[in-house]
Amino acid sequence: FHVDWDIITAEKAGFDHFMLKEIYEQPKAYRDTMGARIDAASNKVVMNEIGMTPEHIRSIRHVHIVACGTAYHAGLVGKTVIEKLTRIPVETDVASEYRYRAPIITPETLVIVVSQSGETADTLAALREAKRNGARVVAITNVVGSSVAREADDVIVTWAGPEIAVASTKAYTSQLIAFYLFGLYLAQSLGTQDASYIADVVAAMQEMPNKVEAILAQADTFKNAAEQISTHDNLFFIGRGLDYAVALEGSLKLKEISYIHSEAYAAGELKHGTLALIEEGIPVIALATQEELFEKTVSNIKEVKARGAHVFGLNAEGETELAKVVDEVLTIPATLPLLMPALSVVPLQLLSYYASLARGNDVDKPRNLAKSVTVE
Ligand code: G6P
Repeated sequence: FHVDWDIITAEKAGFDHFMLKEIYEQPKAYRDTMGARIDAASNKVVMNEIGMTPEHIRSIRHVHIVACGTAYHAGLVGKTVIEKLTRIPVETDVASEYRYRAPIITPETLVIVVSQSGETADTLAALREAKRNGARVVAITNVVGSSVAREADDVIVTWAGPEIAVASTKAYTSQLIAFYLFGLYLAQSLGTQDASYIADVVAAMQEMPNKVEAILAQADTFKNAAEQISTHDNLFFIGRGLDYAVALEGSLKLKEISYIHSEAYAAGELKHGTLALIEEGIPVIALATQEELFEKTVSNIKEVKARGAHVFGLNAEGETELAKVVDEVLTIPATLPLLMPALSVVPLQLLSYYASLARGNDVDKPRNLAKSVTVE
């Protein structure tokens, strides 16, 4: 009698790879990260972990978000979220650059560091630099008791659970949820948004886990697209606004595990150089989930189509125009534009996963990369 069993297989819980398991754990990660931070009765955000007084919150003149890799991409979404909800100016920096540009940090600066592991050397160094200059530091991290969590003034824990795959998925989306919650919390404290608007966003957030489940239920569509792009050596992601921030993360994910070279471009910026690289048959993944920017994005899609690109367009349910200009439409459930990144990144994660698989790569342990980088 022989049972083919080992601890790793058991931990994968029936999935072929940790990455796929972690992609599928996202609905739970969203629910757990929102958890008690949402008061369902009033549709308000409660953040008992934030020790800042209302006076301190009112004294904030600028916010710096600092992080590396995927966490940096979450920070790009965080910038738009916090600026929109509070109208406080926000800058997002890569941690390895931050200290060396002599950033203007004062006691009126709020520095938010984002780190899944809480141990990334550059992020930790940025945190220390911020504190030395008298800023208050909020950490968004997935590891309770990590270095970043210990040294920050306030800690927002993302309850994504352990992330094993090198390519980050559920940690990134949980960081987005943390930014939404914190942005709403700041807006509540500052009175920069109507209670009814906040309640609408909170209500929409609570629908997100089910919407992610709906995306996962159509994984085969994304698998099919992945198999098509897996034979290419170069491709582009384009988008505007929050779609651009998500395009950057989609491109990073694809590079990390499929080793296909891709670039993410602000859709309107293509014509300033990159358009020269668009040739017959090159795949372009165009994100068009932001209503206000839709028409402009469509113009940019036409620019690449005219040069022979094969365009996969990502839109939200209910939108019918995109199908007329792209080769293939990938549709996800609709939500508020501000919340879209927490849905639109999921198909891009699946795209990378299946492209990596189609190329026979080691999905969970890509070459040259480490889960946590503790050197500067
Ligand atoms: C490494 C990982 C990335 C991660 C980055 C930042 O490069 O491979 O997936 O985004 O570090 O990690 P952190 O733990 O600080 O979020």
